[in-house]
Amino acid sequence: MSLANGRHYLAIPGPSVMPDRVLQAMHRPAPNIYTGELVEMTASLVPDLKAIARTDHNVAMYIANGHGAWEAALVNTLSRGDRILILGTGRFCLGWGEMAEAMGVDCQIIDFGPRSDIDMARVAEALEADTEHRIKAVLAVQVDTSTSVKNDIQGLRETLDATGHPALLFSDNIACLACDEFHMDDWGVDVMVTGSQKGLMTPPGMGFVFFNDKADRARETADLVTPYWDWRPRVTPEEYYRYFNGTAPTHHLYGLRTALDMIVEEGLENVWARHATLARAIWAAIEVWGQAGPVRPNIADRTKRSHAVTTINFGPGNGQRLRDWMTANAGVTLGIPLGGVEGRDAQKEDFLRIGHMGHVNAHMVLGVIANLQAGMTALQIPHGPTGLEAAVRIIAEG
Ligand SMILES: Cc1ncc(COP(=O)(O)O)c(C=O)c1O
Repeated sequence: MSLANGRHYLAIPGPSVMPDRVLQAMHRPAPNIYTGELVEMTASLVPDLKAIARTDHNVAMYIANGHGAWEAALVNTLSRGDRILILGTGRFCLGWGEMAEAMGVDCQIIDFGPRSDIDMARVAEALEADTEHRIKAVLAVQVDTSTSVKNDIQGLRETLDATGHPALLFSDNIACLACDEFHMDDWGVDVMVTGSQKGLMTPPGMGFVFFNDKADRARETADLVTPYWDWRPRVTPEEYYRYFNGTAPTHHLYGLRTALDMIVEEGLENVWARHATLARAIWAAIEVWGQAGPVRPNIADRTKRSHAVTTINFGPGNGQRLRDWMTANAGVTLGIPLGGVEGRDAQKEDFLRIGHMGHVNAHMVLGVIANLQAGMTALQIPHGPTGLEAAVRIIAEG
């Protein structure tokens, strides 16, 4: 007998759950890629993507994952030998920096470690020390999917402005666009990258780079740019094939159209609010469990936690034991810890991650919490016994 039989729930932090409507929209014969519906539908994606990013500027779409969007952002703005400032708060911004290094970009790295957000004072210090303004861009993630920290991107812009530093501001929103609140233009972000497979509820395979005019001016001199990754022809293409520099990702586009319709129908503020409440339900459970056991959220300060993903330390070896238990007994797959999340007092196996991004609702999140509590009971992991009730109260309050 297995209680896991039934509809499986992949609660990893991306790729996220694909809505049935998105899957159905993709289930169709190959469309004409020269004229007609697909051409018009593709153009219709642009204003909706920009509305979700809260920008009036440009978006370039790519057949690529998040790494492709990273590379596109770098090559369109930088030249070999340029210096950039990498703000590490987990695996991902450091990974973006490693990519830039491999391309011949000089990376100055500040690593804030696996439990912290960006410390603006240290950023200001680095910018002030750069009196010759050699730093061309400051790179950060809004949400680091390994640590589940949420960085203050608006605060980063204020820090740049306060120091009078002209560097471009890049934000990686791959984990959190359409989950955590974000305002590209109001927050002064010059380049933002994201992917299709998380908050946008579409299969992995599309990457997006949003950029403003200041970033496009950097494109004038960027010597890393290559024909495929060039963002310019993709923005106002004279011919349809230019959107994707070749054949369009036809079925992804139909899926994305429907996913964007769903976000528009719900309202972006409501989407953000749903993610915030579901995240608070998870945090409420963790905090109660931790009152009588080793369980603790990776990020202590609630205001610095993402609403899209939560990284939890369950105590020695327990993250892995619980994940295995959840798959075998509850039909739920949770996220593995990513390298770099552990610290002096912890091992990778202590952690797991819950993805709560995109097409998630109260019953899905409560199901995960209830089954984690069942798993801790079965595995005799000490925990405060009323974590589930604490989560239920958050859901009841709405
Ligand atoms: C914050 C962040 N940046 C970048 C990436 C890389 O994206 P991809 O795996 O689609 O290349 C991810 C993937 O999880 C991510 O979460």
